[in-house]
Amino acid sequence: MEFDVITIFPEILKSYLAEAQIGRAIRKKLIKINIHNLRDYTSDRHKTTDDIPYGGGAGMIMKIEPIFKNIQALLKKQKKRSKTRIILLSAKGQLYNQKKATQLTKKYDRLIFICGRYEGVDERVAQKLVDEEISIGPYVLSGGELGALIIIDSVTRLLPGVLGNQASLKDESYNNDQTEYPQYTRPEKFQDWSVPKVLLSGNPKLISQWRKSKQKNFKTLIKE
Ligand SMILES: C[S@@+](CC[C@H](N)C(=O)[O-])C[C@H]1O[C@@H](n2cnc3c(N)ncnc32)[C@H](O)[C@@H]1O
Repeated sequence: MEFDVITIFPEILKSYLAEAQIGRAIRKKLIKINIHNLRDYTSDRHKTTDDIPYGGGAGMIMKIEPIFKNIQALLKKQKKRSKTRIILLSAKGQLYNQKKATQLTKKYDRLIFICGRYEGVDERVAQKLVDEEISIGPYVLSGGELGALIIIDSVTRLLPGVLGNQASLKDESYNNDQTEYPQYTRPEKFQDWSVPKVLLSGNPKLISQWRKSKQKNFKTLIKE
């Protein structure tokens, strides 16, 4: 899987992507991540990526031209466009979830992310340049970079060979709308707090029943 991130703050992403599972996946060549500085696609000497909003209002809006040029450059050598998904991170996009992560993993081999900043992005980017807008949650962030990282992370760990133990994915939270069961490790007793006895029973059937009883439907986690 290849990921491209278009941003005006390339440095924000680098340390997260260099470490742990993502870093390892890059070194094992299971994924490739290209970070693009949008300012490289501007044509004025100030490398301007934003401008004032038509109709007035607070803040600045990201301009369409540099984003258009950046995408054009990325797609130039692209053979099969249908396997590439261009995603605008946006608070008004479709809410991201585990199902979406699985879909992206299965359907595409390249994801291109556009990270907004300031008051947002010229609407023509959403209308004309991207395949979809994704929101990573019902709240407003300062920029799309965290959203891009979240999608890259959640998609990468679903790819074959990324996790040391593929079985980790089986019982994980949000498969079948359920959260994972509670997990414990040594010591058996810490302060006055003991591990549930059933987990020490050695009885797989009882353990499995107990675990099932502790899983929650994710809908019960949403509180308005
Ligand atoms: C400060 S926000 C703009 C918020 C916009 N004025 C609004 O009210 O929806 C700047 C950028 O952060 C990103 N962003 C903010 N919240 C997000 C979310 N929940 N999911 C994904 N991206 C988000 C988007 O790329 C957005 O263009």
